[in-house]
Amino acid sequence: MSRKVVNLGCGPKSSAHPDVLNVDWSVYLRFRSNPLLRWLPPLVLRGERLERYRSLPDNIVAHDLTRGIPLPDESADVVYHSHVLEHIDRDAVPAFQAEVRRVLKPGGVQRIVVPDLEILARRYVASLEAARAGRGAQSSSAHDASVGELLEQSVRKDAAAARPLRGWKRALYTRIFGDARARGETHQWMYDSENLAALLRDCGFRDIAVVAHDRSRIPGWETYGLDVDAEGRQYKPDSLYVEAAK
Ligand SMILES: C[S@@+](CC[C@H](N)C(=O)[O-])C[C@H]1O[C@@H](n2cnc3c(N)ncnc32)[C@H](O)[C@@H]1O
Repeated sequence: MSRKVVNLGCGPKSSAHPDVLNVDWSVYLRFRSNPLLRWLPPLVLRGERLERYRSLPDNIVAHDLTRGIPLPDESADVVYHSHVLEHIDRDAVPAFQAEVRRVLKPGGVQRIVVPDLEILARRYVASLEAARAGRGAQSSSAHDASVGELLEQSVRKDAAAARPLRGWKRALYTRIFGDARARGETHQWMYDSENLAALLRDCGFRDIAVVAHDRSRIPGWETYGLDVDAEGRQYKPDSLYVEAAK
């Protein structure tokens, strides 16, 4: 039986499964879906990024999720988003969750993947203790890397794609394609199993459960290939996986 599965903020991890509607607003998608502007990125992009632009799949809907989810009420069996929630302004999260509830059928499932703040925080504390004990962090940059894991994505200014560029090229790139925040690359908040479960309860979800990357209450979830890489390994290690029902 076919189902409607929505993959919000799919980025490069879209699913080709016919049940899945992939949605993203990446700047390249927006350029590509605009007949007047689609020629612009190939003038600026080089190498792997140009290849990625050219090979963007056709089964992605270009849409800004701050304007809601582009689906009718109670039309989806599953709403899935991976490494997206932490990019949404905290004030906008309840409205985003209300949208998820609106489009889910009664009994439908929201599956959320986020970077696990608990894993990152425990790693930071272990690194701090090792540095204090004179073990592990021989240089200041070694321990600083664990601070970076927690904070870098919240404070970065330049988009990742602009970093190899220098001077006026970087300025021009940022002018055309936006900085890290404008492109939704920055983290606006972080989640662990406690604050995410509380958020979901507050937003009216029930049967909230932490699951492993390869477990789901969604029948046939493994056929969508969304939480694994091409070799079947966990796609995003250090993630927290939570499911909740409408
Ligand atoms: C860190 S990436 C995660 C991509 C993919 N889901 C994954 O797990 O690899 C976050 C994605 O969310 C998308 N995104 C962020 N804000 C968005 C918005 N307001 N509307 C649509 N997509 C958004 C970005 O374009 C980006 O592709």
